[in-house]
Amino acid sequence: MIGKSLVSILDYTKDEYLKILELAAKFEQQPKQKILDGYVVATLFFEPSTRTRLSFESAVNQLGGKIIGFSDIGTTSVTKGETLNDTIKIVSNYCDLIVMRHPLEGSARYASEVSSVPVVNAGDGANQHPTQTLLDMYSIQKTQGKLDGLNIFMVGDLKYGRTVHSLLMAMSQFQTTFNFISPDELKMPDKYKQHLDTLGLKYYEHKDFTDIIAEADILYMTRVQKERFSDPIEYERVKNVYILKNDMLENTKDNMKVLHPFPRVNEITEDVDSNMKAYYFTQARNGVFTRQAIITSILDLNK
Ligand code: CP
Repeated sequence: MIGKSLVSILDYTKDEYLKILELAAKFEQQPKQKILDGYVVATLFFEPSTRTRLSFESAVNQLGGKIIGFSDIGTTSVTKGETLNDTIKIVSNYCDLIVMRHPLEGSARYASEVSSVPVVNAGDGANQHPTQTLLDMYSIQKTQGKLDGLNIFMVGDLKYGRTVHSLLMAMSQFQTTFNFISPDELKMPDKYKQHLDTLGLKYYEHKDFTDIIAEADILYMTRVQKERFSDPIEYERVKNVYILKNDMLENTKDNMKVLHPFPRVNEITEDVDSNMKAYYFTQARNGVFTRQAIITSILDLNK
């Protein structure tokens, strides 16, 4: 981890995931420490974000570090035609670590190759969102008391949703059973299913989850990713295909938890929010501690 970029969730080993989760628990106990004093983190967001950018910035601020960056490329020299190569090479002179979100798959890997400081992928197109995965794992471990042997339901846009891709790869190291619920147009891509086949892990594909929801330990709801559709009519056809309502949780396991990386659009009605099984607001809060653990591990500041 030390000095290394985090581009794909597979850049870390199982032991490294567990180390990050252990550290995140310590930061949750004590999020305000001055261990980033004198350090500068750049947050470069070429695509919109609320949680990822602000939780990274909160994580750094609470640890006494400084933030530079942008959340609107309209204010940058990208509008004058500057390349990603040049932007990253220049910004890496100004900071100790870059956190980058970009709409193109593979952009974070490219940035890590041209940067002189580590790059953390805050989402690259439909590819990966590894820091979201680590906070999801923290949330799963915290609520279930374990990571091994769980039945995880992933619901919604499994084709374009980068959070489910990263989460599948990480949780495949913990004897997970997966249930994929999506319309045909948004099925989990074959390469991820082949990965599970290689490991001999069980997964099941469904078009509905109302009859099987009682089996879930984690119900991971996702938004249909409007921005990735080339055909708006296709988006309109599938956008409201799954809507979780409070009464659907009645016969679920006592300790089942509903997660969602957010933003939500219509996937979970607001009457679910007050249900004890709704964990998504705490999940987003966990992002601060997990990102504190990631940044300080890469910068080797946990003595
Ligand atoms: N979970 C997530 O990536 O949210 P934002 O797009 O708001 O960062």
